[in-house]
Amino acid sequence: MVSDRPEGPGQGGGGDGTAWSGREGARAFAAVEAATDWLLGYPFVFRALADRIGPGEVLVDYGCGPGKVADEAARRLGARVLGVDTSPEMLALARGSATAVAEFHLVEGGRVTGLPDGCADAVMCNHVLASLPTQEAVLGVFTEIRRLLRPGAPFVLLTTDPACGGTEYASLRIGDPGEVYGPGDELTVRLRRTDGSWQEVRNHAWPVGTLPALLERAGFRDVARRRPTVDEALTVADPELAAGRAWSAERAGPPLVVTTATAA
Ligand SMILES: C[S@@+](CC[C@H](N)C(=O)[O-])C[C@H]1O[C@@H](n2cnc3c(N)ncnc32)[C@H](O)[C@@H]1O
Repeated sequence: MVSDRPEGPGQGGGGDGTAWSGREGARAFAAVEAATDWLLGYPFVFRALADRIGPGEVLVDYGCGPGKVADEAARRLGARVLGVDTSPEMLALARGSATAVAEFHLVEGGRVTGLPDGCADAVMCNHVLASLPTQEAVLGVFTEIRRLLRPGAPFVLLTTDPACGGTEYASLRIGDPGEVYGPGDELTVRLRRTDGSWQEVRNHAWPVGTLPALLERAGFRDVARRRPTVDEALTVADPELAAGRAWSAERAGPPLVVTTATAA
């Protein structure tokens, strides 16, 4: 069970209704632990990218937040990483700590400022769709990512599966038990903070099966999906993290999905 009194839904946001926006939202997200993501998510994103890009090539982290994942990608892959986000406050946090990231750019009006068409050799987009309320918004993000990529370049997308509703994972809980969530439905996500307490945020459900058609509409091909397991993570994730817990819920129903596609 979620143990302490959580902050109210939407408190991951900064008052304009968007998850993680504003200074408070940026600080709140920077304080989450993300153990499940560092086991079953980000290492698999890095591995998918390592197969497709080399040192010095340009990798855009679309919706980079406080920059921790972008920073780790730059260090592990040797890529020239560009972090982009709609939140100036997130970018300010990232600029202060993600020192391996080459540049940061603001997303304004659905477009990344200062980045030309086809400038990227790869794009990753981790846990951004959950902030997007409509199919049009998801399509808008995919279309902008497609604009940034040169033809033939890879896109790697990390999402939570709303079908895993209600299970308490090491660092997250997606929605409520017994609920079935359709595309864009609101749900409450609970994220464990580094101090052990829980942060609640109102997010949107994007069932993983709805994404391939949207990616194809935005100009992607070769869409593939995988759901990393704990056994796979034992050879991919940080060994200390992997060995540090039983990961019973993650073993029973892995909640993260990595979708890959190629810019047509
Ligand atoms: C949950 S955080 C994830 C941050 C980071 N990718 C990670 O995995 O740690 C979601 C981020 O997406 C950003 N975001 C939300 N909507 C966006 C959009 N339409 N375009 C770009 N970034 C967006 C938010 O400002 C926030 O920083």
